[in-house]
Amino acid sequence: MENINNIVILTGAGISAESGVATFRGPDGLWEGHRVEDVATPEAFARDPDMVQKFYDERRAKLDAVQPNPAHQALAELDQKWPGDLLLVTQNVDDLHDRAGSQRLLHMHGELRSAWCLACGERSPFAGKMALDPACPKCDQFGHLRPDIVWFGEMPYQMERIELALAQCDLFVSIGTSGAVYPAAGFVQSARHYGARTLEMNLDPSEGSLYFHESRMGKAGDLVPVWVEDLLTNV
Ligand code: APR
Repeated sequence: MENINNIVILTGAGISAESGVATFRGPDGLWEGHRVEDVATPEAFARDPDMVQKFYDERRAKLDAVQPNPAHQALAELDQKWPGDLLLVTQNVDDLHDRAGSQRLLHMHGELRSAWCLACGERSPFAGKMALDPACPKCDQFGHLRPDIVWFGEMPYQMERIELALAQCDLFVSIGTSGAVYPAAGFVQSARHYGARTLEMNLDPSEGSLYFHESRMGKAGDLVPVWVEDLLTNV
């Protein structure tokens, strides 16, 4: 474990699966029941805003019924105790990392519990139903809120900060992501290019599995706490 100071961790839907949040791909995945083009693009929102709002309202409402699992908790513990630099980049729009207590956290694909007002441009914490066209908490105008979610065809948040962290990290760890969606799927190659060691923890080999120095296959709730304990023992 020597020479590790800066860590970048990427998480995907797999880390929240054991909490009961649906993943995207695979037999019971969200994209089996919905067409991406119908609910997760700016074009879909322009065409049928009500349907898109209801899709995200339903997913937002489900957050009340789920809790962080041991994988989220272990990453929060690592964040609290790791003396070096650490950045947790999540593709997840749930708030389970936040609720577990992770601080050095970035939601690159947005957040269900955030609203983006297309009238004033501001983002605000949001609970409830956007399909009811509530007023923006910042500018009080009605009917201009959209889910603060990065849809297909849109630019993920804070890419410059992520690229810088990848360039400076000694260890890149990917957890519970299929590696099907760029730019996140390319982070492992960037990190390797800059000399980082790379580790993946996933139920099945991801699409980019061959780019990792090490792959551990299994459930995040089993693998992540063991990995964190190991890392902290050697600090
Ligand atoms: N532990 C670890 N990994 C798991 C678990 C688990 N308990 N359960 C499932 N997985 C793995 C699956 O094997 C799969 O490889 O998690 C991965 C989930 O993949 P996806 O459903 O494709 O989710 P993700 O990679 O986060 O998707 C990326 O795609 O639709 C967009 O914007 C959306 O952020 C999302 C992006």
